[in-house]
Amino acid sequence: MENKKTLFSAVQPSGILTLGNYVGAISNWKRLIEEYDCIYALADLHTLTVKQVPAELRAHSYELAALYISCGIDPEKCILFCQSHVHEHAELTWILNTMTYPGELQRMTQFKDKSKSHSDNVNMGLMDYPVLMASDILLYNAHLVPVGADQKQHLELTRDLAIRFNSRYSDTFVVPEPYIAKTGAKIMSLQDPEKKMSKSDANVNAFISMNDDRDTIIKKFKRAVTDSGNEIRADESKPGITNLLTIYCCVTGKELCDAEKEFDGVGYGNFKIAVGEAVADLIEPVRCEKDRILSDKSYLDKVFADGALRAEHIARKTLSKVYRKVGLVERKF
Ligand code: TRP
Repeated sequence: MENKKTLFSAVQPSGILTLGNYVGAISNWKRLIEEYDCIYALADLHTLTVKQVPAELRAHSYELAALYISCGIDPEKCILFCQSHVHEHAELTWILNTMTYPGELQRMTQFKDKSKSHSDNVNMGLMDYPVLMASDILLYNAHLVPVGADQKQHLELTRDLAIRFNSRYSDTFVVPEPYIAKTGAKIMSLQDPEKKMSKSDANVNAFISMNDDRDTIIKKFKRAVTDSGNEIRADESKPGITNLLTIYCCVTGKELCDAEKEFDGVGYGNFKIAVGEAVADLIEPVRCEKDRILSDKSYLDKVFADGALRAEHIARKTLSKVYRKVGLVERKF
């Protein structure tokens, strides 16, 4: 048997994803399946840490699963599952909570930011979010976790907890490493290129949703903020144009210098339309395929069931080892 490393990642079903999520995460996941034993989760329990409309959360979960599959993530070649279907995640969180200090969680940047942006609902789950995330990773003894800059601190805590548990009891968890993607392109807002593209942006023109149709996509690119001057060149002093060039290269697979040459002498207006068209060419087939998959809920339920069983098989082993090591009475029934 091949000895592949295990890679774990998850995305919250908190609304439809943006082009940024697609380029930065999901589009890479397909490639990673070839190289690693990949386990991909829908982090639905994490999503509950901010207020949700129940029916929407459920719909978003199906939608995200359909999107994964439409991006070429074959559920037979990896484990694709819903976090809430595998109760070991919540259970390991309890054990790890008994070894996590409040200060460690209070100083997390994301907790501090979300406490501000959701000041009407600062709940224990929001604070405990990184411990649940640590459980996700440690249950599967994942070696690698692809993380964006915003999740780095959480992975650091995961490592600390794994080391803490291993030294307090005995070697149990694999201490995970961050997986740094080779092309770390960051997609910025179309309206404010100093800010990351985010689906929670109040201005819908700031982001491209994976649900946008061709006309909407092109319209949004036509409205994208550019910089002064008229040269199409990636440069620190030109964040708007640089972002558009980055997007163009990500969706076409072209090199930056070739794209610069291609648009030499082209006006900003036509350049923006060209980027919009390239993005639409990429997204449109994915969206159609996603909608087709989404219309077959029973297929998706089967994917969830199969994924949960396979995930649970691994998670249960880890959790029983943990329960035994901390001194809980073994279940013999
Ligand atoms: N917190 C991650 C995010 O919002 C999602 C997530 C949950 C995750 N559990 C994980 C990512 C485990 C990597 C590994 O992006």
